[in-house]
Amino acid sequence: MELKLAFIGFGNVARAFARILTDRKSPFNRDFDLSWKTTAIATARHGCITSADEIELMRAVNCVESGDNLSEVGGSIPANDPTSVVQNCDADVLFETTPLNISDGGPAVTYIRTALSRGINVITANKGPVAFAYSELKELAEQHGANFRFEGVVMDGAPVFNLVEKCLPGTRVVGFAGVLNSTTNLVLTEMEKGRSFEDALVEAQRRGIAEANADHDIDGWDAAVKAVALANVLMDCDARPADVDRKGIREVTADSLVAAKASGRSVRLVSRGRREGTDVRLTVALEIVPLASTLGGVRGTSNALIIETDLMGELAIVETDPGVDQTAYALLSDLIVVHETLNRRQKH
Ligand SMILES: NC(=O)c1ccc[n+]([C@@H]2O[C@H](COP(=O)([O-])OP(=O)(O)OC[C@H]3O[C@@H](n4cnc5c(N)ncnc54)[C@H](OP(=O)(O)O)[C@@H]3O)[C@@H](O)[C@H]2O)c1
Repeated sequence: MELKLAFIGFGNVARAFARILTDRKSPFNRDFDLSWKTTAIATARHGCITSADEIELMRAVNCVESGDNLSEVGGSIPANDPTSVVQNCDADVLFETTPLNISDGGPAVTYIRTALSRGINVITANKGPVAFAYSELKELAEQHGANFRFEGVVMDGAPVFNLVEKCLPGTRVVGFAGVLNSTTNLVLTEMEKGRSFEDALVEAQRRGIAEANADHDIDGWDAAVKAVALANVLMDCDARPADVDRKGIREVTADSLVAAKASGRSVRLVSRGRREGTDVRLTVALEIVPLASTLGGVRGTSNALIIETDLMGELAIVETDPGVDQTAYALLSDLIVVHETLNRRQKH
Protein backbone atom coordinates (compact mmCIF):
# COMPACT_ATOMS: atom_id res chain seq x y z
CA MET A 1 0.00 0.00 0.00
CA GLU A 2 1.30 3.49 -0.83
CA LEU A 3 0.35 6.26 1.58
CA LYS A 4 0.41 9.97 0.76
CA LEU A 5 2.00 11.94 3.60
CA ALA A 6 1.58 15.59 4.61
CA PHE A 7 3.73 17.38 7.21
CA ILE A 8 2.42 20.33 9.22
CA GLY A 9 5.55 21.52 11.01
CA PHE A 10 8.92 20.47 9.64
CA GLY A 11 11.22 21.09 12.60
CA ASN A 12 13.62 18.83 14.50
CA VAL A 13 11.17 15.97 15.04
CA ALA A 14 9.69 15.93 11.52
CA ARG A 15 13.11 16.13 9.87
CA ALA A 16 14.50 13.31 12.06
CA PHE A 17 11.44 11.30 11.02
CA ALA A 18 12.03 12.19 7.36
CA ARG A 19 15.55 10.75 7.68
CA ILE A 20 14.19 7.49 9.15
CA LEU A 21 11.58 7.27 6.37
CA THR A 22 14.27 7.75 3.75
CA ASP A 23 16.72 5.27 5.33
CA ARG A 24 14.11 2.58 5.93
CA LYS A 25 12.11 2.85 2.71
CA SER A 26 13.19 -0.53 1.28
CA PRO A 27 12.90 -2.62 4.50
CA PHE A 28 9.46 -1.19 5.25
CA ASN A 29 8.30 -1.87 1.74
CA ARG A 30 9.56 -5.45 2.02
CA ASP A 31 8.48 -6.23 5.62
CA PHE A 32 5.18 -4.34 5.86
CA ASP A 33 4.23 -3.85 2.19
CA LEU A 34 4.25 -0.16 3.12
CA SER A 35 5.47 2.63 0.88
CA TRP A 36 4.83 6.37 0.92
CA LYS A 37 5.25 9.61 -0.90
CA THR A 38 5.18 13.15 0.47
CA THR A 39 2.59 15.46 -1.06
CA ALA A 40 2.59 18.50 1.28
CA ILE A 41 4.82 20.31 3.80
CA ALA A 42 3.86 23.40 5.81
CA THR A 43 5.98 25.49 8.19
CA ALA A 44 5.76 28.90 9.85
CA ARG A 45 8.80 30.66 8.35
CA HIS A 46 10.18 28.24 5.76
CA GLY A 47 7.17 28.32 3.45
CA CYS A 48 4.46 25.81 2.52
CA ILE A 49 4.41 23.52 -0.52
CA THR A 50 2.29 20.84 -2.11
CA SER A 51 2.80 18.59 -5.10
CA ALA A 52 0.44 16.71 -7.39
CA ASP A 53 3.20 14.14 -7.79
CA GLU A 54 5.83 13.77 -5.03
CA ILE A 55 8.00 16.11 -2.96
CA GLU A 56 11.56 14.85 -2.59
CA LEU A 57 11.69 14.56 1.19
CA MET A 58 15.46 14.85 1.69
CA ARG A 59 15.60 17.87 -0.61
CA ALA A 60 13.02 19.49 1.65
CA VAL A 61 15.09 18.56 4.74
CA ASN A 62 18.24 20.06 3.21
CA CYS A 63 16.35 23.14 2.13
CA VAL A 64 15.04 23.91 5.64
CA GLU A 65 18.40 23.09 7.25
CA SER A 66 20.10 25.54 4.88
CA GLY A 67 17.61 28.21 5.94
CA ASP A 68 15.98 28.34 2.48
CA ASN A 69 12.31 28.53 1.63
CA LEU A 70 10.62 25.23 0.71
CA SER A 71 9.52 26.74 -2.60
CA GLU A 72 13.15 26.07 -3.70
CA VAL A 73 12.29 22.34 -3.77
CA GLY A 74 11.87 21.47 -7.44
CA GLY A 75 8.47 20.37 -8.74
CA SER A 76 6.58 21.77 -5.75
CA ILE A 77 3.67 24.21 -5.79
CA PRO A 78 3.85 27.02 -3.20
CA ALA A 79 0.83 27.25 -0.87
CA ASN A 80 -0.37 30.32 1.02
CA ASP A 81 -0.20 29.08 4.59
CA PRO A 82 -0.46 25.94 6.78
CA THR A 83 -4.25 26.29 7.05
CA SER A 84 -4.73 26.17 3.28
CA VAL A 85 -2.40 23.14 3.14
CA VAL A 86 -4.47 21.27 5.75
CA GLN A 87 -7.70 22.24 3.98
CA ASN A 88 -6.58 21.21 0.50
CA CYS A 89 -3.74 18.68 0.66
CA ASP A 90 -4.08 15.30 -1.01
CA ALA A 91 -2.97 13.08 1.88
CA ASP A 92 -3.79 9.82 3.66
CA VAL A 93 -1.75 10.67 6.76
CA LEU A 94 -0.98 14.09 8.22
CA PHE A 95 1.91 14.50 10.68
CA GLU A 96 1.31 17.43 13.02
CA THR A 97 4.52 18.55 14.77
CA THR A 98 4.04 22.24 15.46
CA PRO A 99 5.12 23.72 18.84
CA LEU A 100 3.08 23.27 22.02
CA ASN A 101 0.72 26.15 22.80
CA ILE A 102 0.26 26.07 26.57
CA SER A 103 -2.86 28.30 26.57
CA ASP A 104 -5.30 26.32 24.44
CA GLY A 105 -3.38 23.89 22.22
CA GLY A 106 -3.97 26.03 19.09
CA PRO A 107 -3.49 26.22 16.15
CA ALA A 108 -2.60 22.50 16.23
CA VAL A 109 -6.09 21.61 17.48
CA THR A 110 -7.63 23.40 14.48
CA TYR A 111 -5.24 21.74 12.00
CA ILE A 112 -6.06 18.30 13.43
CA ARG A 113 -9.80 19.01 13.55
CA THR A 114 -9.75 20.07 9.89
CA ALA A 115 -7.73 17.06 8.77
CA LEU A 116 -9.85 14.52 10.68
CA SER A 117 -13.04 16.11 9.32
CA ARG A 118 -11.64 15.43 5.85
CA GLY A 119 -11.10 11.76 6.80
CA ILE A 120 -7.30 12.18 6.88
CA ASN A 121 -5.47 10.07 9.50
CA VAL A 122 -3.54 12.27 11.93
CA ILE A 123 -0.36 11.48 13.86
CA THR A 124 0.98 14.09 16.27
CA ALA A 125 3.91 14.50 18.68
CA ASN A 126 2.34 17.67 20.08
CA LYS A 127 0.93 17.36 23.63
CA GLY A 128 -1.44 20.32 23.22
CA PRO A 129 -4.20 18.66 21.18
CA VAL A 130 -4.32 15.63 23.52
CA ALA A 131 -4.38 17.81 26.63
CA PHE A 132 -6.92 20.35 25.35
CA ALA A 133 -9.18 18.46 22.94
CA TYR A 134 -8.69 14.70 23.21
CA SER A 135 -12.31 13.59 23.54
CA GLU A 136 -13.49 15.90 20.74
CA LEU A 137 -10.71 14.81 18.35
CA LYS A 138 -11.19 11.13 19.17
CA GLU A 139 -14.91 11.39 18.44
CA LEU A 140 -14.27 13.33 15.24
CA ALA A 141 -11.81 10.66 14.09
CA GLU A 142 -14.40 7.93 14.74
CA GLN A 143 -17.13 9.87 12.88
CA HIS A 144 -14.91 10.23 9.80
CA GLY A 145 -13.33 6.77 9.86
CA ALA A 146 -9.87 8.21 10.51
CA ASN A 147 -7.11 7.36 13.00
CA PHE A 148 -5.88 9.88 15.58
CA ARG A 149 -2.56 8.75 17.10
CA PHE A 150 -0.13 10.50 19.44
CA GLU A 151 2.40 8.04 20.93
CA GLY A 152 5.12 10.73 20.95
CA VAL A 153 3.40 13.13 23.35
CA VAL A 154 4.61 11.33 26.51
CA MET A 155 8.06 9.68 26.73
CA ASP A 156 8.78 10.03 23.03
CA GLY A 157 8.70 6.67 21.26
CA ALA A 158 8.56 4.55 24.42
CA PRO A 159 5.27 2.66 24.24
CA VAL A 160 2.85 4.19 26.72
CA PHE A 161 -0.49 4.65 24.96
CA ASN A 162 0.14 1.79 22.53
CA LEU A 163 1.21 -0.47 25.42
CA VAL A 164 -2.06 0.01 27.25
CA GLU A 165 -4.19 -0.12 24.10
CA LYS A 166 -2.55 -3.13 22.46
CA CYS A 167 -1.07 -5.15 25.33
CA LEU A 168 -3.34 -4.62 28.32
CA PRO A 169 -6.85 -5.38 27.03
CA GLY A 170 -9.48 -5.56 29.75
CA THR A 171 -7.38 -3.80 32.39
CA ARG A 172 -8.31 -0.47 33.90
CA VAL A 173 -5.69 2.17 34.65
CA VAL A 174 -6.34 3.46 38.16
CA GLY A 175 -3.31 5.70 38.57
CA PHE A 176 0.13 6.69 37.35
CA ALA A 177 3.28 8.35 38.61
CA GLY A 178 6.08 9.55 36.38
CA VAL A 179 9.23 11.59 36.00
CA LEU A 180 8.25 12.97 32.61
CA ASN A 181 10.15 16.22 32.05
CA SER A 182 13.77 15.83 30.93
CA THR A 183 14.82 19.44 31.56
CA THR A 184 13.83 19.54 35.24
CA ASN A 185 15.27 16.08 35.82
CA LEU A 186 18.59 17.14 34.32
CA VAL A 187 18.59 20.31 36.45
CA LEU A 188 17.87 18.31 39.63
CA THR A 189 20.52 15.70 38.77
CA GLU A 190 23.15 18.36 38.06
CA MET A 191 22.26 20.25 41.27
CA GLU A 192 22.73 17.02 43.26
CA LYS A 193 26.32 17.13 42.03
CA GLY A 194 26.67 20.65 43.44
CA ARG A 195 25.97 22.73 40.33
CA SER A 196 23.83 25.88 40.64
CA PHE A 197 20.24 26.00 39.35
CA GLU A 198 21.19 28.61 36.72
CA ASP A 199 24.20 26.61 35.46
CA ALA A 200 22.18 23.41 35.31
CA LEU A 201 19.42 25.12 33.31
CA VAL A 202 21.97 26.54 30.87
CA GLU A 203 23.26 22.96 30.45
CA ALA A 204 19.72 21.78 29.59
CA GLN A 205 19.37 24.62 27.08
CA ARG A 206 22.79 23.87 25.59
CA ARG A 207 21.69 20.26 24.99
CA GLY A 208 18.58 21.55 23.19
CA ILE A 209 16.12 19.71 25.46
CA ALA A 210 14.55 22.73 27.20
CA GLU A 211 11.29 24.14 25.85
CA ALA A 212 11.72 27.36 23.83
CA ASN A 213 10.28 29.06 26.93
CA ALA A 214 12.13 27.18 29.71
CA ASP A 215 9.61 28.50 32.29
CA HIS A 216 7.23 25.87 30.90
CA ASP A 217 9.65 23.21 32.16
CA ILE A 218 10.74 24.88 35.40
CA ASP A 219 7.20 25.77 36.51
CA GLY A 220 5.93 22.26 35.84
CA TRP A 221 3.68 23.10 32.86
CA ASP A 222 5.19 20.49 30.54
CA ALA A 223 4.86 17.83 33.25
CA ALA A 224 1.26 18.97 33.88
CA VAL A 225 0.28 18.81 30.19
CA LYS A 226 1.71 15.29 30.00
CA ALA A 227 -0.24 14.28 33.13
CA VAL A 228 -3.43 15.56 31.50
CA ALA A 229 -2.67 13.68 28.28
CA LEU A 230 -2.18 10.46 30.28
CA ALA A 231 -5.37 11.00 32.29
CA ASN A 232 -7.49 11.89 29.26
CA VAL A 233 -6.38 8.90 27.22
CA LEU A 234 -5.73 6.18 29.81
CA MET A 235 -8.26 7.12 32.50
CA ASP A 236 -11.16 8.36 30.39
CA CYS A 237 -10.89 11.82 31.90
CA ASP A 238 -11.68 15.21 30.34
CA ALA A 239 -9.12 17.29 32.25
CA ARG A 240 -7.25 20.44 31.19
CA PRO A 241 -3.78 21.63 32.29
CA ALA A 242 -5.34 24.23 34.63
CA ASP A 243 -6.94 21.33 36.59
CA VAL A 244 -3.53 20.07 37.70
CA ASP A 245 -2.38 20.96 41.21
CA ARG A 246 1.04 22.07 39.96
CA LYS A 247 4.30 23.12 41.57
CA GLY A 248 7.57 23.46 39.68
CA ILE A 249 11.17 23.25 40.84
CA ARG A 250 11.92 26.97 41.42
CA GLU A 251 12.00 26.65 45.22
CA VAL A 252 14.42 23.71 45.35
CA THR A 253 17.85 24.30 46.95
CA ALA A 254 21.13 22.56 46.17
CA ASP A 255 21.57 21.82 49.90
CA SER A 256 18.27 19.90 50.07
CA LEU A 257 19.23 17.81 47.03
CA VAL A 258 22.69 17.00 48.34
CA ALA A 259 21.24 16.12 51.77
CA ALA A 260 18.60 13.85 50.19
CA LYS A 261 21.28 12.06 48.18
CA ALA A 262 23.47 11.59 51.27
CA SER A 263 20.54 9.80 52.95
CA GLY A 264 19.89 7.45 50.02
CA ARG A 265 17.06 9.48 48.54
CA SER A 266 16.55 11.87 45.64
CA VAL A 267 14.22 14.77 44.91
CA ARG A 268 12.25 14.35 41.69
CA LEU A 269 9.49 16.30 39.91
CA VAL A 270 6.70 13.73 39.83
CA SER A 271 3.48 13.86 37.76
CA ARG A 272 0.69 11.84 39.36
CA GLY A 273 -2.82 10.83 38.43
CA ARG A 274 -5.09 9.00 40.85
CA ARG A 275 -8.71 7.95 40.56
CA GLU A 276 -10.72 9.35 43.48
CA GLY A 277 -14.36 8.25 43.20
CA THR A 278 -15.55 9.49 39.81
CA ASP A 279 -12.76 12.09 39.56
CA VAL A 280 -9.08 11.86 38.70
CA ARG A 281 -6.77 13.94 40.90
CA LEU A 282 -3.75 15.29 39.00
CA THR A 283 -0.64 16.69 40.65
CA VAL A 284 2.86 17.79 39.68
CA ALA A 285 5.21 18.35 42.63
CA LEU A 286 8.68 17.74 43.97
CA GLU A 287 8.82 14.49 45.96
CA ILE A 288 11.56 12.89 48.02
CA VAL A 289 11.82 9.29 46.84
CA PRO A 290 14.28 6.45 47.58
CA LEU A 291 17.31 6.60 45.28
CA ALA A 292 16.87 2.87 44.65
CA SER A 293 13.24 3.21 43.43
CA THR A 294 12.03 3.43 39.81
CA LEU A 295 11.42 7.17 40.02
CA GLY A 296 14.38 7.95 42.30
CA GLY A 297 16.82 6.17 40.01
CA VAL A 298 15.96 8.25 36.92
CA ARG A 299 19.02 10.38 36.15
CA GLY A 300 19.64 13.26 33.77
CA THR A 301 17.32 13.46 30.76
CA SER A 302 15.87 9.98 31.30
CA ASN A 303 12.17 9.46 32.05
CA ALA A 304 10.12 6.84 33.90
CA LEU A 305 6.43 6.11 34.23
CA ILE A 306 4.67 3.70 36.57
CA ILE A 307 1.18 2.72 35.47
CA GLU A 308 -1.09 1.26 38.15
CA THR A 309 -3.84 -1.03 36.92
CA ASP A 310 -6.67 -3.00 38.52
CA LEU A 311 -5.77 -6.42 37.07
CA MET A 312 -2.07 -6.20 36.18
CA GLY A 313 -0.78 -4.34 39.23
CA GLU A 314 2.00 -1.87 38.53
CA LEU A 315 4.02 -1.66 35.34
CA ALA A 316 7.06 0.60 34.90
CA ILE A 317 8.43 2.00 31.64
CA VAL A 318 11.90 3.57 31.72
CA GLU A 319 13.42 5.52 28.83
CA THR A 320 17.16 6.16 29.00
CA ASP A 321 18.61 9.41 27.58
CA PRO A 322 15.94 10.07 24.94
CA GLY A 323 16.70 12.28 21.96
CA VAL A 324 14.83 13.57 18.94
CA ASP A 325 15.23 10.23 17.11
CA GLN A 326 13.11 8.54 19.79
CA THR A 327 10.31 11.05 19.17
CA ALA A 328 10.67 10.46 15.44
CA TYR A 329 10.33 6.74 16.13
CA ALA A 330 6.98 7.46 17.81
CA LEU A 331 5.72 8.88 14.50
CA LEU A 332 6.96 5.77 12.71
CA SER A 333 5.33 3.35 15.14
CA ASP A 334 2.05 5.25 14.79
CA LEU A 335 2.37 5.19 10.99
CA ILE A 336 2.68 1.40 11.09
CA VAL A 337 -0.42 1.16 13.29
CA VAL A 338 -2.35 3.37 10.84
CA HIS A 339 -1.13 1.27 7.93
CA GLU A 340 -2.28 -1.95 9.66
CA THR A 341 -5.72 -0.42 10.27
CA LEU A 342 -6.09 0.66 6.66
CA ASN A 343 -4.88 -2.74 5.45
CA ARG A 344 -7.47 -4.55 7.59
CA ARG A 345 -10.18 -2.22 6.30
CA GLN A 346 -9.15 -2.82 2.69
CA LYS A 347 -9.37 -6.60 3.15
CA HIS A 348 -12.96 -6.51 4.51
N1 LIG B 1 12.07 17.77 20.18
C1 LIG B 1 11.72 16.72 20.90
O1 LIG B 1 12.57 15.93 21.31
C2 LIG B 1 10.27 16.47 21.22
C3 LIG B 1 9.92 15.39 22.04
C4 LIG B 1 8.55 15.10 22.27
C5 LIG B 1 7.59 15.92 21.72
N2 LIG B 1 7.97 17.00 20.97
C6 LIG B 1 6.91 17.84 20.40
O2 LIG B 1 6.96 17.74 18.98
C7 LIG B 1 6.58 18.97 18.39
C8 LIG B 1 7.67 19.41 17.43
O3 LIG B 1 8.88 19.59 18.12
P1 LIG B 1 10.19 20.09 17.33
O4 LIG B 1 11.31 19.94 18.29
O5 LIG B 1 10.25 19.45 16.00
O6 LIG B 1 9.83 21.64 17.16
P2 LIG B 1 10.56 22.69 16.19
O7 LIG B 1 11.91 22.21 15.80
O8 LIG B 1 10.42 24.01 16.84
O9 LIG B 1 9.65 22.67 14.85
C9 LIG B 1 8.35 23.19 14.82
C10 LIG B 1 7.90 23.25 13.37
O10 LIG B 1 6.58 23.78 13.36
C11 LIG B 1 6.54 24.90 12.47
N3 LIG B 1 5.54 25.83 12.98
C12 LIG B 1 5.63 26.70 14.01
N4 LIG B 1 4.44 27.34 14.19
C13 LIG B 1 3.62 26.87 13.23
C14 LIG B 1 2.28 27.14 12.88
N5 LIG B 1 1.53 28.01 13.55
N6 LIG B 1 1.76 26.48 11.80
C15 LIG B 1 2.49 25.58 11.11
N7 LIG B 1 3.76 25.29 11.38
C16 LIG B 1 4.31 25.91 12.44
C17 LIG B 1 7.94 25.48 12.48
O11 LIG B 1 8.15 26.25 11.31
P3 LIG B 1 9.57 26.90 10.96
O12 LIG B 1 10.43 25.75 10.52
O13 LIG B 1 9.32 27.82 9.85
O14 LIG B 1 10.03 27.53 12.23
C18 LIG B 1 8.75 24.18 12.50
O15 LIG B 1 8.83 23.65 11.21
C19 LIG B 1 6.32 19.95 19.54
O16 LIG B 1 4.95 20.01 19.84
C20 LIG B 1 7.10 19.33 20.69
O17 LIG B 1 6.56 19.68 21.96
C21 LIG B 1 9.26 17.28 20.69
